[in-house]
Amino acid sequence: MDRRLFVSDLARYAALCAVVPNVWRVTSRPRFADDPFALGVASGDPTPTGGVLWTRLAPRPFEPDGGMEGTRVTVDWEVADDDGFTKVVQKGRATAAPELSFSVHIDVTGLLPDRWYFYRFRSGDAVSQVGRLRTTPTDGAVTPLAFAFASCQNWEQGLFTAYEHMANEELDLVAHLGDYIYEYAGNPRGVRMHHGLEIRTLDDYRRRYAQYKSDPLLQAAHRRCPWVVTWDDHEVDNNYAGLAGENNMESTEQMRARRAAAYQAWWEHQPVRVPRVQSWADLSITRTINWGALARFWVLDTRQYRDDQACGDGTKPFCDEARDPRRGLLGAAQESWLLDGLGRSRSRWQVLAQQVMMGPYDAAEGDEVRTSMDQWSGYPAARDRLLGEIAKRAPNRTVAITGDIHSNWVNELRSDFSRPDRPVVAAEFVGTSIASGGNGGPVPPARLADMKRENPHLKWFENRRGYVTCTVNRDTWRADYRSVPFVDKPGAPIATASSWRLEHGRAGITAL
Ligand SMILES: [Fe+2]
Repeated sequence: MDRRLFVSDLARYAALCAVVPNVWRVTSRPRFADDPFALGVASGDPTPTGGVLWTRLAPRPFEPDGGMEGTRVTVDWEVADDDGFTKVVQKGRATAAPELSFSVHIDVTGLLPDRWYFYRFRSGDAVSQVGRLRTTPTDGAVTPLAFAFASCQNWEQGLFTAYEHMANEELDLVAHLGDYIYEYAGNPRGVRMHHGLEIRTLDDYRRRYAQYKSDPLLQAAHRRCPWVVTWDDHEVDNNYAGLAGENNMESTEQMRARRAAAYQAWWEHQPVRVPRVQSWADLSITRTINWGALARFWVLDTRQYRDDQACGDGTKPFCDEARDPRRGLLGAAQESWLLDGLGRSRSRWQVLAQQVMMGPYDAAEGDEVRTSMDQWSGYPAARDRLLGEIAKRAPNRTVAITGDIHSNWVNELRSDFSRPDRPVVAAEFVGTSIASGGNGGPVPPARLADMKRENPHLKWFENRRGYVTCTVNRDTWRADYRSVPFVDKPGAPIATASSWRLEHGRAGITAL
């Protein structure tokens, strides 16, 4: 090569380097004009020796890249015995990068079982708020557990007041059963408004999570204790089933792209430990969390692997399609994983942390039957398979905790709902929504009586916002339905609307 040409090429290259930042450089001393930890911190998926710590750097959450302007930064983390961080027991350094929206997931190990810890993050001069992590008891220990479960927090339909109260409860764990975000376009008639149109792309989902995560009451509940999170439909698209979208307008390719965006954004924003996958569209979040030998949480996904809703979805009489025994809600792999696992698990209580109601609900009076094709009722053969196996492998020590339906239900689950003489083998507590559905209100006693007459397994129903706390011991399980009277303005008080008790190995749910 001509030397003169080579020198001129070098000069051009040097000039280029001066204007294009090196995208792989990691900055250990970033300067932030705004708090990069504005979306809070969280811990989750605890083990006897650790758990996952989460944050996402976003100094200006609604700008592209959350205001990080493409800069990779180091994030230091610390875990301590005390909230003053005088006794740091673990620490390390991670990199926050644009590919994963500057989220940080630290899977901490080496901690002691059955203990509270405190954690925080630091980047440059910025220090996050302090969160709490509790490790689980050792494998053989039957240690009591206090946990809450929640779901369905439509930003536009109500304030997250319930979380303000949850953050004041003495809880070891929170289970979130999905509808953490809603995908809909902004509606000016809500209590508050979504930014932007219906979300479809990765950046759309990221911005929507940023909006929800900016809520200080949600952040307070995350700081309080570790969470175990699964998803429902609205993390992607209302009532989607596998690769079938809500409105059937989307092709399979579009749904795969949408699922990939939605699942990636979900992972980026939750303190979870799930296996790596080749494609975000196939992210599997099915997993177990053990609380010593007391309880095993089976974290289920009833959206990604289900067959499409039968009979055109909606609340309908059964058509032949609904009764097809080949149809499933969990998919074959997840179903056999669960059924085999229930047989092998030595935990005192088996907890199915899942989305849609398992107990049937007949909405029609008299002989006519109309039921939701989106719930387990729309997949009756799959429900009978599951409850039949529970009857054999873990009767009356299996509890389904359920979200989705924005109301409170207590259901006794029978091994076969087509035959009323079959025994009660499990309990279902359907928690209500945090915000979805707005204020709600009391159910007239006559209506509840009508509902119970059509649905004798139904013990209680109400239409209030809130969450459920559970106190689990070796031989008993207590569930308290906590509810707030309104969500359209701040400051609602919390009260226990109703309390229920299970006895290990004994059929039925008792009112307290
Ligand atoms: Fe919902």
